[in-house]
Amino acid sequence: MQQLKNLQGLRFPDEYVVRMFFKERLHEQPGRVLELGCGSGNNLILFQEYEWEVIGIDISSESLSNASHNLNCESKSANLITMDLSKEIPVFEKLFDAIILPSFNYYIPRAQFQNILNFCSASLCEGGIFFLRSRTCQDWRYGRGRKVENNGFILDCKETGEDGCLNVFYEKNELTNMIENSFEKLNHMNVLSAKYENIQSGVVIANDDVVIWGRK
Ligand SMILES: C[S@@+](CC[C@H](N)C(=O)[O-])C[C@H]1O[C@@H](n2cnc3c(N)ncnc32)[C@H](O)[C@@H]1O
Repeated sequence: MQQLKNLQGLRFPDEYVVRMFFKERLHEQPGRVLELGCGSGNNLILFQEYEWEVIGIDISSESLSNASHNLNCESKSANLITMDLSKEIPVFEKLFDAIILPSFNYYIPRAQFQNILNFCSASLCEGGIFFLRSRTCQDWRYGRGRKVENNGFILDCKETGEDGCLNVFYEKNELTNMIENSFEKLNHMNVLSAKYENIQSGVVIANDDVVIWGRK
């Protein structure tokens, strides 16, 4: 891993990924992790630091180029894949010990997100960790754009840099039902609210997220 000052793109892991990682004692049991929408590898850095094999998928080749710089990709223990997950579902031969989707699923149409959840269930080993951080209907962005599906909008939000992006918002219950549709049951499931304000383009943006993790 690069020194902190040499990292490119987003530098810090998601704080709930960090909490989940240590609460679930993942620092003591290295395994194989897949992150969907891995961006610049800011979450995978944490896993790699603790000897995990890391696999990241993202649509953005620019973000993956940052991830490639940030992670130790010379070793066989890191693999970065460019893929549009709104259109494709990846295929892997080996199962994962953890699959994480922090702040990514809302860019995907709901029907494809359910396909992705089915993929996650099929690709996770028994006892493996599933982690999701998503946006709720109370988020500032909700309704700011053209409606294209239930609680889904093509955003008209220059402030957050997401102008023209699809955002699909969920209530907690809908997400837990969708997860149960794919996993039947996620054991020891944690469901948390994460509300925080951020300043973007000089505007206070009230973010409203739900964080869910559990074991297959
Ligand atoms: C808000 S960032 C989150 C990055 C990282 N997971 C984190 O927690 O900091 C969302 C990421 O999802 C990626 N993404 C958006 N749509 C995607 C798609 N259709 N297929 C794959 N990745 C996508 C973006 O390129 C971006 O890197």
